[in-house]
Amino acid sequence: MKNKILVTAALPYANGYIHLGHIAGAYLPADLFVRYKRLRDEDIIFICGSDEHGTAIEISALKEKLTPKDIIDRYHNANKAAFEELGISFDIFSRTSNEIHHKTAQDFFMNLYEKGLLYTKSEKQLYSEKDKKFLADRFVEGTCPICGFEEARGDQCESCGSNLSPLELKNPKSKISGDTPIVKESTHFYFPLEKSQKFLEEWIQGKTDWKSNVKNYCEGWFKTGLKDRAITRDLDWGIKLPLEGYEGKVIYVWFEAPIGYISATKELFIGKGEPEKWKDYWQEKDTRLIHFIGKDNIIFHAIVFPAMLEAHGEYVLPENVPANEFLNFEGGKLSKSKGHGVLVKDAVREFNPDVIRYTLGSNLPENKDSELNNDDFKIKNNNELAAILGNFVNRTIVFAKNKFDNLVPERGDADAGVLEEVERLAGVVSENYDEYRFRDAISSTMDIARFANKYFNDSEPWKIIKSDKEKCGSIINNCIQICGSLAIAIAPVMPFTSQKILNVLKQESSILKWENIGKAFVKDKTELGDNEILFPQIEDKPEEKAEAEEVKEAEDNLIDIDYFKKIELRTAVILECEPVPKSKKLLKIIIKVGEKKKQIVAGIAEHYKPEELIGKTIVVVNNLKKSKLMGVESHGMLLAAKKDGKLKLVTPEGEIEDGGDVS
Ligand code: 2FM
Ligand code: ZN
Repeated sequence: MKNKILVTAALPYANGYIHLGHIAGAYLPADLFVRYKRLRDEDIIFICGSDEHGTAIEISALKEKLTPKDIIDRYHNANKAAFEELGISFDIFSRTSNEIHHKTAQDFFMNLYEKGLLYTKSEKQLYSEKDKKFLADRFVEGTCPICGFEEARGDQCESCGSNLSPLELKNPKSKISGDTPIVKESTHFYFPLEKSQKFLEEWIQGKTDWKSNVKNYCEGWFKTGLKDRAITRDLDWGIKLPLEGYEGKVIYVWFEAPIGYISATKELFIGKGEPEKWKDYWQEKDTRLIHFIGKDNIIFHAIVFPAMLEAHGEYVLPENVPANEFLNFEGGKLSKSKGHGVLVKDAVREFNPDVIRYTLGSNLPENKDSELNNDDFKIKNNNELAAILGNFVNRTIVFAKNKFDNLVPERGDADAGVLEEVERLAGVVSENYDEYRFRDAISSTMDIARFANKYFNDSEPWKIIKSDKEKCGSIINNCIQICGSLAIAIAPVMPFTSQKILNVLKQESSILKWENIGKAFVKDKTELGDNEILFPQIEDKPEEKAEAEEVKEAEDNLIDIDYFKKIELRTAVILECEPVPKSKKLLKIIIKVGEKKKQIVAGIAEHYKPEELIGKTIVVVNNLKKSKLMGVESHGMLLAAKKDGKLKLVTPEGEIEDGGDVS
């Protein structure tokens, strides 16, 4: 029997919209892996949902004068829709406010409590008589004891960056009511993480296939030494402690959220009418549990949650935690960026979701932070997807349409090795997926399309058709079979495009099996469907175009020194000057340039009187072709500077003879 695979992706907080950084950190790699494994016919489920507790949500509600429930409903629904539009194919997107999760988390807590694994400790905390509650870190504001900033938060001063505890704040105030809190003792439950260190260290040492970035983080924490963690909080919003005498306390969000993976699995199978089946995935020893997360969540998934699971005893531990680093956008942190198109809900309005997936997938921050620029979508679409993949599919289909009556030509026996090569290339893709190298998986997928284009070019079907139509048909048949293989190979990264290719090849989705790559499954004489350009060129938007043109124009305006040297600039002295008849603007001027006298016409009559000019030394373009202005010949041009509609002659500083070179 096959091992079950249970894939989880970090539960996003339901107090903000999902952005592309989240996608690159956890959801896209997870989806690539899951889609690939499904094509491999693995027994795999993909679990996610909204993380709906915690002070961050209460604070958002407070700010917007809404209830926490309003906030979580808004973001849960929006994020669920955004994930769908981007093709992130969870088997379930649940939420931690669901009853089943409250019960599961409480049971988990009670399991540890009843085993005597938890202990309590009493601590001083800020309490507001007016709000009738203890004030968690972020509910307090006051003066930073380090730098004097007056709006420092209970956990951190945003001005000097110091980590603080609410008790250190001077002049603390409740963020809810402005009340001045008092100090009161509060009792909390602790999870003894320190005791788990030895077990965790050995366990992680055995994980030879974990990514080095993840192992490095863990080793860092082991070096500092793990500390016991409080797993309860004095809050209203959250999962109530199921114990008498602890009213007003909830389970700490980071203790219950990962249990959400278990609750969501239960919910998934209840929905399928198999309410006990979740156990197969969480309690069968050989289940492969894999947590996809961003690096900020490593401690919870590689250290705290495994320690909890181990303490509980009835669950499998993660086989891997392939965490990614951060994706930066246009040089800044995505989490802080307000840039257009950064939120998934906006990006899917602007770009084909497969283009987003491909672009992000090619830039995943797998081992170090990576960088994304807005132009990258256009560049990837035009230079890779359209130019390589789209081009191959299009030229194949168009050829079959035009030369073979829109039917798949007979297979024949030309180039039998071509599909074998496709199969071999797909083997490289497989290895990359299996080893969590998703960037490589994507570029090696594209290698199949590159190979396909080369095959088309080298076979020259447009020439062969003239001498041997049968052989040409056989070549085109090969190309069509490669299109079929490509539909499968690209399916993890570009599921929507995969479906489009299947449509034109008139194939059912059931053909989407990795083992079919390299097989000739499109039957001879199949009538092809409508051809569609898979990746239309992305043009610059009008405003970007204008900007690009401006830059180009500015560049076009640049000249090199040789060009400048062709312009003969000379000093000249004005000998005579008079108005050009019937013209308001023009003066006829006789100048002397060294030995030569010449006549020029200049548009400066509104700025200088003729008599003012006589005797002035000016700068002229001496090698201008002759022209006529109002019937008067001009053999040069004087230089004048213009500002606010006023003209001033360019004149050399100090005494200089006429005929001098100006350079
Ligand atoms: O960092 C976050 O967005 C958390 N809400 C992730 C939770 S993952 C799991 F533990 F639920
Ligand atoms: Zn400070």
